[in-house]
Amino acid sequence: MAKKYHLTTFGCQMNEHDSERMKGMLESLGYVEAEHRDESDLILFNTCSIRESADNRFIGNLGEAKRLKSEDRSRVVGVGGCWSQSLKDQVFEQFPFVDVAFGPGQIHKLAEFLQSEDLSAQGYFEFEGFAGDLPMKRERPFQAWVQISTGCNCVCAYCIVPSTRGRERSRSPEELVREVEGLAAEGVKEVTLLGQNVNSYGRDLPKDERLDFADLLALVDAVDGIERIRYTSPHPKDMREKLVRAHAELNSLCEHIHLPLQSGSSRILKAMRRTYDRDRYLGRVAMIRSDVPDCAITTDIIVGFPGETEDDFRETLEVVDEVGYDSAFTFVFSPRRRTEAAEMPDQVPYPVKQERMARLVELVQRRACERNQRFVGTVQEVLVEGTSRTDPTRLRGRTRHNKTVNFRGLGEP
Ligand code: 5AD
Ligand code: SF4
Repeated sequence: MAKKYHLTTFGCQMNEHDSERMKGMLESLGYVEAEHRDESDLILFNTCSIRESADNRFIGNLGEAKRLKSEDRSRVVGVGGCWSQSLKDQVFEQFPFVDVAFGPGQIHKLAEFLQSEDLSAQGYFEFEGFAGDLPMKRERPFQAWVQISTGCNCVCAYCIVPSTRGRERSRSPEELVREVEGLAAEGVKEVTLLGQNVNSYGRDLPKDERLDFADLLALVDAVDGIERIRYTSPHPKDMREKLVRAHAELNSLCEHIHLPLQSGSSRILKAMRRTYDRDRYLGRVAMIRSDVPDCAITTDIIVGFPGETEDDFRETLEVVDEVGYDSAFTFVFSPRRRTEAAEMPDQVPYPVKQERMARLVELVQRRACERNQRFVGTVQEVLVEGTSRTDPTRLRGRTRHNKTVNFRGLGEP
C-alpha cells in the first residue's frame, strides 16, 4: 500500500508555494496525501517564524506529532521552513522525536532523506539558491505561484527572514518565461510572482541577461493565455516609476500594489533600517495615484517597534489617513531571535501596543470602507476561486484590484 503523508503549512505565500512543491515531490515518490494527521506515515510541517505567534501555533501542532510518533515509532516526523532554519542548532536537542529538519532552500533534500537507508535524524540547512525544478501540486488548476528569486539582502531590524532565507538570488528570465509558458499551456490564467523582495529582481544576474523587474513583468505579460499577473512582496525603496507605469501599460498586470509602510514615523523607519522616510514613501503613493488612478494600495504596518512614542504612532495614523489603503495587515511588534530590534532598549509595553493596535485597526477599516465606495455600482471582472466561505450556494472570487467578491453565479438551481 502507498505511504501516506500529511503536510501542514504556516506562514506566507512563499511557504504555500514551497508546500505545493513538497507535495509534488512526495507524490512523484509514490506518497499519497492523507486527510488527517493520525492516518499518515509521514507527518510534515512547513513552518514560519515571522512572529512569536507563528512559533506558538506551530509548537502546539508539533505536540500532536510527538504523541502520534510515540504511538507508532515507524512514523516519520519532518519539519521544514523558517522556524526550522532559525533553530537549526537546537531542533534535534529540543525535539528529539523529529526525524528530519530542513530549511526553506532544502526541500529537495527531503526526497533524498526519504529514499536513504538510514532514517536517523538528519538536518539540511545550506543556502543553495533556488531548490531546483520540482513538480508542483497546485491547489487550483488556473492559478500558479512562480518563484522569481530567493532570499533577501535587506537588513530590516525586526525581521528574521534574511537569516532564514539567505542572500538574494534571481532566477534567470529565460527559465522563468519558459516556466510561465508551460503553466499557460496547462491552463493557468493567473500567476503570482513571488520573492522576498520582488522588485529588486535582476540586480544579481550576469550582465548578458540582466533585466529589471518591470522588464520581467513585460515578458510575462507577453505570454499568451496569462490574463492576470500579481506579485508579492515589493519594497517601497525599489518602487520606481517604470514599475508603477507597468500597471497602467501591461494588460495582464493587476491594478493592485502592496506597499509595506511598517511605520509612518521617519525616526522609527530609520531605526527599522527601511531606507526610506515618510516623505519618500508618500512620494511613491503620489506617483501611483497619478499614473494608475484607481489602483488598489495595500500595506503592512508594525505597531510598537522599540522606542515608538505616542507621537511616532500618531505619524503612522496620519499616513494611514492620508493614503487611504484598500486594506492593511497590522502587526504588533514581536522580538525575534538574532534580530537587531530584539536587543533594542525601550521595548514598548504590551498594553500600550494593544491600545495602539485598536486605534490603528479602527482607522484602517474606516478608510478602507470609504475607499471601497469607488466600486459601488461598477461592473468588475472576477476570477472565481470557489464557493463563498459562509454560503455554499454563492460563488467567491477576486477582482483585479484583489477584492474578494461573493455573488450568485449563473446556472444554479
Ligand atoms: N514583528 C511584527 N511584525 C513583523 N513583520 C516582520 N517581522 C515582524 C516582527 N518581528 C511583519 C512586517 C512584514 C510582514 C510580512 O510581517 O510588517 O512586512
Ligand atoms: Fe514566515 Fe517569513 Fe519565512 Fe514566510 S519567509 S515562512 S513569513 S518567516
